[in-house]
Amino acid sequence: MKGRLPAGFRKLDLGARRDALRKAFDFPDDEWSAIAAEQNQLDLADVMVESAVGCVPLPLGIAQGFLIDGKEISIPMAVEEPSVVAAASFAAALIRRDGGFTTWASEPLMSAQVFLEGVSADGERELAASEADLRMALAGPLDSLTKRGGGFRAWHHERLPSGSVRVDLQIDVRDSLGANRLNTAAETVRPLLEKVSGGRALMAILTNAAAQCTAGARFSIPVERLAPGLPRGMTAEEAARRVAAASVIAQEDPSRAVTHNKGIMNGIASLAQATMNDARAVEAAAHLWAARDGCYRGLSTYRSDGRSLSGQLEVPVALATAGGSVDFHPAARASLRILGHPDARGLSRIAAALGLAQNFAAVLALVTHGIQKGHMKYHAARLAYQAGARGPLARRIAEELSRRGTHDPGAARTLFEQMREDTR
Ligand code: MEV
Repeated sequence: MKGRLPAGFRKLDLGARRDALRKAFDFPDDEWSAIAAEQNQLDLADVMVESAVGCVPLPLGIAQGFLIDGKEISIPMAVEEPSVVAAASFAAALIRRDGGFTTWASEPLMSAQVFLEGVSADGERELAASEADLRMALAGPLDSLTKRGGGFRAWHHERLPSGSVRVDLQIDVRDSLGANRLNTAAETVRPLLEKVSGGRALMAILTNAAAQCTAGARFSIPVERLAPGLPRGMTAEEAARRVAAASVIAQEDPSRAVTHNKGIMNGIASLAQATMNDARAVEAAAHLWAARDGCYRGLSTYRSDGRSLSGQLEVPVALATAGGSVDFHPAARASLRILGHPDARGLSRIAAALGLAQNFAAVLALVTHGIQKGHMKYHAARLAYQAGARGPLARRIAEELSRRGTHDPGAARTLFEQMREDTR
């Protein structure tokens, strides 16, 4: 039936699912071919998610020119927003002349949690004395991780306002995100914790908070670096002052902070997607971190003393270079190759530098020319594409539209006809 998938759709094999989907929805050719994917991609999709029918091809761009801790790095970014990759490269080029980014990262410590109900005060005291048993119970499930230098590190418990007790198991996950291992660890100790505390476990799951798995980046540049291309009459000192003032607003006003932080996530989430990490987890953690003192604030800060401008960002970044989809999917492996095969903390440090670069480019644009000037350039490219232009011709039409300051589909079509004739 049109617009409806058959019962048992998820149980059909991939080919039959795709036939059923195509029958149910009359896809125009461009829509079907956009999700259709090559057979090897379909085979991968089929084992990655239930009811797979194709792939959504997110553009992969390379942000170039990053100097991070003295190393040149090109950063793959998977993102649909047109200006994001260009903005990252712009900031990287501006910052590299003065030493680039300095970064740091904590150990990769993640936590698994068990929530217990009905624990008495005596039960809580019993819990407090149960570390040796916990360690013993965790030894098996964490054996391979312990052999790789990770494993169980610490634990604590806390009574929540509801009366439930939360037990946190802190585990060093090394290069993996460790989601399966963390969840297995929590489920392994669940019966033990019930027995020791006399309570009942409500649930056992990792926390995405990743508050002990942070990475940071900073840079400092002389204010003169900002001088080229500023609006007429704006000095470099004033541009730097405005960047710092915008960062103060992101500290004091949550409604601005959330957009400021979204700009940071433009970078970090794009890298997470390019490496097939869990971008949703990284974003959730970042937003909790942004509100850690009770008020939601910007994750980065900028300061200027009139001579130099410095920026700094610290954020939880739980990114893996092994396990999950990361070393399973060839696209993720390709991204890690471009990055020079960093370990997990190295990848998190790159993510912090990228997030700061992305944010700096956005804030600088906002407080100088405004954001639309850059954005419209990419909109012009889409108009050229919609008019029928492809490749270099699309770029030339986009440039001409931007030069004329028009973003009218009719103008794009006329230019396409003219320029196509010229190239014949
Ligand atoms: C757009 O994707 C991101 C910005 O809104 C970030 C910001 O406002 O800082 C430009």
